[in-house]
Amino acid sequence: MELNKQSDWVARSLRSVWHPCTQMQHHETVPLIPVSRGKGAWLYDHDGRRYLDAISSWWVNLFGHANPRINAALKDQLDTLEHAMLAGFTHEPVIELSEKLSALTGHVLGHSFYASDGASAVEIALKMSFHSWRNNGHADKREFVCLKGSYHGETIGALAVTDVALFKDAYGPLLRASQTVMSPDARAAREGETAQDVARRAAVDVERLFTERGDKIAAIIIEPLVQCATGMAMHDPLYLQLVRALCDQHNVHLILDEIAVGCGRTGTFFACEQAGVWPDFLCLSKGISGGYLPLSLVMTRDEIYQAFYSDDVTRGFLHSHSYTGNPLACRAALATLQIFEEDDVLNANRVKAERLTQALQPLARHEQVRHFRQRGMIWAFDAIDAPKDFSRRFFATATEHELLMRPIGATVYMMPPYILSDEEIDGLAANTLAVFNQVMAG
Ligand SMILES: Cc1ncc(COP(=O)(O)O)c(C=O)c1O
Repeated sequence: MELNKQSDWVARSLRSVWHPCTQMQHHETVPLIPVSRGKGAWLYDHDGRRYLDAISSWWVNLFGHANPRINAALKDQLDTLEHAMLAGFTHEPVIELSEKLSALTGHVLGHSFYASDGASAVEIALKMSFHSWRNNGHADKREFVCLKGSYHGETIGALAVTDVALFKDAYGPLLRASQTVMSPDARAAREGETAQDVARRAAVDVERLFTERGDKIAAIIIEPLVQCATGMAMHDPLYLQLVRALCDQHNVHLILDEIAVGCGRTGTFFACEQAGVWPDFLCLSKGISGGYLPLSLVMTRDEIYQAFYSDDVTRGFLHSHSYTGNPLACRAALATLQIFEEDDVLNANRVKAERLTQALQPLARHEQVRHFRQRGMIWAFDAIDAPKDFSRRFFATATEHELLMRPIGATVYMMPPYILSDEEIDGLAANTLAVFNQVMAG
């Protein structure tokens, strides 16, 4: 019975679970891995094999699995208040979290609106932007702009501002049209151009569009510094400064989607801090709850909040989710923020990042690698002439080397939790090189 446990779980899962972002038939050849438990940076299967979670379980897990401090906070919260609706009621975890987040923006983004997943946060930001313009007498501003290759989630509204053919094409007929502008991806640099030159070129494309139809545009949505799901496309912070100025000039809202890049992932708590700008709406999710519970939120400026403040119900923001502001999720987020403070995480990460970058030098200089890049706790590189099915083969080979990694096309990336030991960092680099060589050799 024990011996069959792993394969039993696989069979039962394939009989009853529909897995996300998956062509289920591929599991006839690609193994499904039933996880029995997690500890620190590691996930363990039922056969006792382990996998270093080098992508933080889809970029959510910041401080490891079964983190004792987050566990303790949640156990305490569980015995106090597991949930209460947030309409007409409020509670300590949601108040404290909103206050702390506001303080992290120097109180520029003074109000937070809550949901459970990233796509819902994007929907909220889009609706809020449109509705605030309407409440201010600009009902014509109802178009949205996104970047080429952008990814903002897969619900119908979020998909409309996503530009990834694989996710979007099948549902195209259901979606509202949006405007797409050039990505500032530094890899697009022409001979002699710097990343800043690419940023300037991309901003000119925004300026052209805003000049043409700024009076119709409600907002532009950008994933600041790194367009993650596109393949970790990195850009210079100058781009955000230029777009912020254009938004001010043309009366267009700036929505920054920090769902993946927030919470210290790019080296500062919010990615936009590196550009010295604040958006009108900032979306957070994934790491904010330490990777424990579904939680997302949209932070906004008090002027925007005031545009909804009225004795007229229909001028209010008419949006809700049953689990809005769930106390357990908010408490996990508070424990996460406490770890940032107590462990001086952003500075500690600089040291870890330096070590991993050094350890990855054989890959950075590898003859089959181009565009090795890093920002904060994100590393990526592109395989030159990657073999067919590179991503799936890399995933499968990585599991044989105790690694959980899922390349995006021919882009291999790492987004590990912030708790790796020196030994784990060195092992991650050495194993990634071994997996890469094996997959490239076919
Ligand atoms: C930048 C960005 N926005 C939005 C989302 C959607 O978040 P969720 O998957 O929680 O709906 C993601 C998810 O990967 C993301 O990376």
